[in-house]
Amino acid sequence: MTTRIIGTGSCPGDRVVTNEDLAQIVETSDEWIASRTGIRQRHLTTGMGNSRMAAEAAKRACENAGIRPEELDLILTATSTPEYCFPSTACQVQAEIGAVNAAAFDISAACTGFVFALITAESFLASGMYRTILVIGADELSKVVDWEDRKTCVLFGDGAGACVVRAEESGSFHGIMGADGSRGPVLTCLSRSGGNFLTGEKPEHGFISMDGQEVFKFAVKKVPECVNELLAAQNRKKEEVRYYILHQANERIIESVAKRLKEPIEKFPMNIQNYGNTSGASIPILLDEMNRQGKLDKGDTIVLAGFGGGLTWGAVLLTW
Ligand code: ACO
Repeated sequence: MTTRIIGTGSCPGDRVVTNEDLAQIVETSDEWIASRTGIRQRHLTTGMGNSRMAAEAAKRACENAGIRPEELDLILTATSTPEYCFPSTACQVQAEIGAVNAAAFDISAACTGFVFALITAESFLASGMYRTILVIGADELSKVVDWEDRKTCVLFGDGAGACVVRAEESGSFHGIMGADGSRGPVLTCLSRSGGNFLTGEKPEHGFISMDGQEVFKFAVKKVPECVNELLAAQNRKKEEVRYYILHQANERIIESVAKRLKEPIEKFPMNIQNYGNTSGASIPILLDEMNRQGKLDKGDTIVLAGFGGGLTWGAVLLTW
């Protein structure tokens, strides 16, 4: 038995904020942001919040998969910005969509969270414990971003993406995960919640803080290493991979990874220009867009790769 994605859904924040809009708040410009990051706009949530974006993405993924929420055995939500310590975002989603037969819990691994959650789902399916699992990546980073700090506020957006995965006879699925806690201080956020883009409220324990250049260097080294390790472990060649779907943190990071892997940039789809960095949600939002645009064919080999706070990294090689 192997893990297959059978449906996708997504729900970005409802309000589009362009680079020009941000230039009204902090000293920046569309030219600076776009040339350094590739970002032109981001979506922020103005009322739905983390759990309702996650639930909406979940409903759309179940519809796309052609299953009823009652068929789900487990809900895993990768998020760093839940509304509460408990109930978890996954339990809020379970209630909202009526997945009455599902267990539910959250996974915290920052921008790598969705990849870690997918690999966790795979181990439940491989063990035979569960048959159908909903994996969500959801983040509302606008709650923990300092909207007065131009170095960070231009980078992030809010959103959720989801996949329904199921144990099937054919295909392949392999994942690897890694962490280096000693490098945690490079990228931190001591609050999960509290700030508000609209009202100017600030989170109690401080904002996202990062050493941008260290994160950049970490990502462009670790992602190619991790992808090469995964392919080598499975005795698979880069030529077999149709797409590399990377965490959407920065266009220049993705270009640099493509160069280091010696793969054409066309194999690295991007939507960062429209969404910014949505942390745990970026990979499933991109997957959902590609799925709905008919860019993925059954049997395609794709690689997903994430990296982020922790520091953490991970990659998955799967058959679509
Ligand atoms: N608008 C205008 N000027 C700015 C802005 C802005 N939004 N932000 C910073 N600057 C200025 C700085 O003040 C600095 O000016 P100074 O030289 O007068 O002091 C100058 O631009 C250069 O600043 P740097 O921080 O050195 O800019 P850099 O070229 O490193 O680009 C960036 C910053 C885009 C964050 C880059 O380091 C990067 O992409 N890092 C990767 C980190 C990342 O993507 N993090 C996302 C979250 S983590 C994750 O998802 C895993």
